[in-house]
Amino acid sequence: MAATSPFIAGNWKMHGLTARLDQLRILADGLASHPTAARVAVCPPATLLAQAAHILVGTRVELGGQDCHGEASGAFTGDISAEMLADAGARLVILGHSERRMLHGESDSVVASKIVASLRAKLEPIICVGEQGDDRRAGRTLRVVEGQLAASLPDRLAGARFHIAYEPVWAIGSGLTPTSEEIAEVHDAIRRALIARFGEQGAHVHILYGGSVKPENAAEILKVAEVGGALVGGASLTASDFIQIIAAA
Ligand code: PGA
Repeated sequence: MAATSPFIAGNWKMHGLTARLDQLRILADGLASHPTAARVAVCPPATLLAQAAHILVGTRVELGGQDCHGEASGAFTGDISAEMLADAGARLVILGHSERRMLHGESDSVVASKIVASLRAKLEPIICVGEQGDDRRAGRTLRVVEGQLAASLPDRLAGARFHIAYEPVWAIGSGLTPTSEEIAEVHDAIRRALIARFGEQGAHVHILYGGSVKPENAAEILKVAEVGGALVGGASLTASDFIQIIAAA
């Protein structure tokens, strides 16, 4: 059973100087004049969070971070804690993104510790899983995704609000997307794993699809069974594109 109102989250990654905050103003104004049932969030670089929070007061656009450290504070030069993200105005945090897993060597157990940290700071984690192109070609997509879920999701998530994002690594930033059938197969498997692990709670977790979601393909992807929303990278940087994706939800 899919969660009810869709959830569309934007992941700005390492894009955006102060000038890009104008896109948040355009987004908030656009949503005010074109009401949608979707929940909407943007995860800008941490440097923009506090200013973004100021701009978005009284709007329905929520804010998230893109990563956090497992500890609340300490001698971790360059890192940002979940508490710091919350203090800057974030309500959500993306964790276990494939770019963190691959480029920063984050293992499932590191991701699990970051999820525990996010809950400690009362942030809702958006937990990313997804196979590499080689995994799909070798027919082990479900095994990889189920393995990531089993090892990345801490028991502490029981009773907490969290979201899963299925992001095939080969679809991220490539313009390629799986077919609707391929998306449905993985989302189904994720739903089954969530119910097996968390019971009734697992039936209501939003399972977002991410990887080259654009205005042109959003409607088709968002109507797939068990797709409860989207995690949007490149197309979330421009408010007009992001609004079209939200409108398709
Ligand atoms: P993309 O990125 O939409 O640019 O493919 C998605 C993501 O990595 O979250």
